[in-house]
Amino acid sequence: MAEFDVIVIGGGPGGYVCAIHCAQLGLNTACVEGRGTLGGTCLNVGCIPSKALLHATHELHELHENFDKMGLTEAKVKVDWKKMQSYKQDVIDSNTKGIEFLFKKNKVTYVKGWGEIVAAGQVKVGDEVHTAKHIVIATGSEPSGLPGVEVAFDEEVIVTSTGALSLPKIPKSMIVVGAGVIGLEMGSVYARLGTEVTVVEYLDAITPGMDAEVARSFQKILSKQGLKFVLGAAVQKVEKGKGKAAVSYKLRKDDSEATIEADVVLVATGRRPYTKGLGLEALGLEVLPRGQVKTDAHFQTSVPGIYAIGDAIVGPMLAHKAEDEGMALAEILAGKAGHVNYDVIPGVIYTTPEVASVGKTEEALKQEGRAYKVGKFSFMGNGRAKAVMQTEGFVKIIVDAATDRILGAHIIGPSAGELIHEICVGMEFGAAAEDIALTCHAHPTFSEAVREAALACGLGAIHA
Ligand code: NAI
Repeated sequence: MAEFDVIVIGGGPGGYVCAIHCAQLGLNTACVEGRGTLGGTCLNVGCIPSKALLHATHELHELHENFDKMGLTEAKVKVDWKKMQSYKQDVIDSNTKGIEFLFKKNKVTYVKGWGEIVAAGQVKVGDEVHTAKHIVIATGSEPSGLPGVEVAFDEEVIVTSTGALSLPKIPKSMIVVGAGVIGLEMGSVYARLGTEVTVVEYLDAITPGMDAEVARSFQKILSKQGLKFVLGAAVQKVEKGKGKAAVSYKLRKDDSEATIEADVVLVATGRRPYTKGLGLEALGLEVLPRGQVKTDAHFQTSVPGIYAIGDAIVGPMLAHKAEDEGMALAEILAGKAGHVNYDVIPGVIYTTPEVASVGKTEEALKQEGRAYKVGKFSFMGNGRAKAVMQTEGFVKIIVDAATDRILGAHIIGPSAGELIHEICVGMEFGAAAEDIALTCHAHPTFSEAVREAALACGLGAIHA
């Protein structure tokens, strides 16, 4: 038995960041993780491995699409799937080992095993009970499957995102159920590898919640890249046959039914909080109807001394949201003021081109009845984008009609996931579009497109 100030259960981006920051603030901290490696879903079977595959296949896509145009001929490239998989594994290993090193450096005790909260202040791991003043639940989420439909996942033919990252071979055909972030990122990976990808989505548009103009443009670009879309289709059955799988759906507009087949089916219809085995019921800890642990504004659950952060609580299931909550909670536990600004949490889809957004969409502002103005700039007018043949997409900035204060931004285009942060910093400082428009931006950069969109909010874009 060991005594700690803080025990964090879960070593993902929320948990490990919280543990490191608690230790940095002088708290004697342990982190309990049962997976065998640190980093959670994100580093092991999520954000990081998918980025490795997206990067490798992006290079392949460039080779097919643009190398010849750039005067790079005679390129004979073969895909070695096994080698690509081991490149992906090396990326995972170097990241997860990096967190272990950071634990040692910051003197966080790494307790290997699955934790159960047996009482406030007590966490059982294996046969040992560890005590702490504060316990943090940072246990993340798991794929939610299809609501109301039993799906027999085998992670080879019918897969979640985990199986999709490690398929035994590149399939000839794939059906992706759900046109959300996971479906489109993994669908892109396989489409670039030559797989025939069909995405079946319940709603009439892809990426629900995204700015509608960006979503439409995104769908067009993905269709050009070879992805097929069946929209407005409620999937009712996913079944495995002989080496193939079948997906049956009903079109919402006319109730007509259809069944399609493919080598692999990826079900990417969302995630749900993972709190199994934590002992929450016995503790009487309040859980919301959709499985999230209920917390107050300071991450305190209904049981004093037990806190929760990340995918296990309400809010977007994003690694960086969890990290920010981990940092804020560490500050609170150390007696300081921790805070997360939920109005400025960017979202990024790492396809080619990337898609990024922060703040309000036009649709949300219309619903609120708020007066706004839009400034837009196409990458077609950006010299750098032309030089690298990545002119698809645009930057859209939405500002308050009266004050010019930035309310949101939506970008589809090269390095959108990096560009969005200029807007995030601006929003944190309460910037007006004019502040960005009058800031000197280096030439030639993609960032100039952000400045031009800011100019388009009032002063007028130059290159449009
Ligand atoms: P999602 O919530 O983004 O998308 C799920 C999609 O499935 C929705 O469009 C929904 O309408 C559709 N759907 C639900 N039931 C259906 C049915 N019966 N038939 C057809 N379509 C149906 O969920 P996803 O992509 O699984 O991602 C899970 C979480 O992981 C999200 O919160 C996402 O933000 C996060 N994530 C973030 C990444 C990033 O930031 N780049 C990467 C991967 C995941």
